[in-house]
Amino acid sequence: MNRGLRIAWALTGAGHFLGESVEIIGSLREAVTVDAFLSRAAVEVLAMYGLDRRLSGIAASVTAETGHSFPVTAKFAVGMYDALVISPTTSNTVAKCLCGIADSLVSCMYSQAGKSRVPVCVLPTDVAPEMVSTAPNGNRVMVYPRRIDLEQAARLRDEDGVTAVSSPEELQSWLSQAIERGAFS
Ligand SMILES: Cc1cc2nc3c(=O)[nH]c(=O)nc-3n(C[C@H](O)[C@H](O)[C@H](O)COP(=O)(O)O)c2cc1C
Repeated sequence: MNRGLRIAWALTGAGHFLGESVEIIGSLREAVTVDAFLSRAAVEVLAMYGLDRRLSGIAASVTAETGHSFPVTAKFAVGMYDALVISPTTSNTVAKCLCGIADSLVSCMYSQAGKSRVPVCVLPTDVAPEMVSTAPNGNRVMVYPRRIDLEQAARLRDEDGVTAVSSPEELQSWLSQAIERGAFS
């Protein structure tokens, strides 16, 4: 087991795969240090699902989006992080990242990690044409991602330095293999 690995884990404002993402962070506690970064929407959605306190309890730090220039993203350039994980990733943030837009905390993290050649792993929410999701009140809801959402999620696979996964299980496996190797690249 390698105790030296440090991950920047960005969460966006998605309900889908949110509980699973938080659980994976909890399961990594012994193996990897996780600093969590929240988009403005993620701050709201985490609270709606009652997961904000759980995340604070398991992440080494939690940083919420503020301002416009995101100086915290300079941490990729100085080698502070071995990897960036974005999970869950809204269709909004996926679209921004693929267009090269970096005007939000998470899209800027994606951009700066790429420019610093830090490995990135992305779990988008919109991975199938029909999905069963869970609303904040616990009810099951059907979600039908649009063609553009599915196309954008698929395009992530062509991005340099990016591993696009399509389920929490795949994300867990990517993390486990890296932890075993002691490196993410
Ligand atoms: C309860 C709730 C759940 C949401 N779940 C999703 C989701 O699973 N996937 C998604 O793409 N957007 C979802 N959204 C919409 C995003 O929060 C919204 O597009 C937001 O602007 C995304 O901002 P961000 O990408 O900066 O986090 C959800 C919104 C709410 C209120």
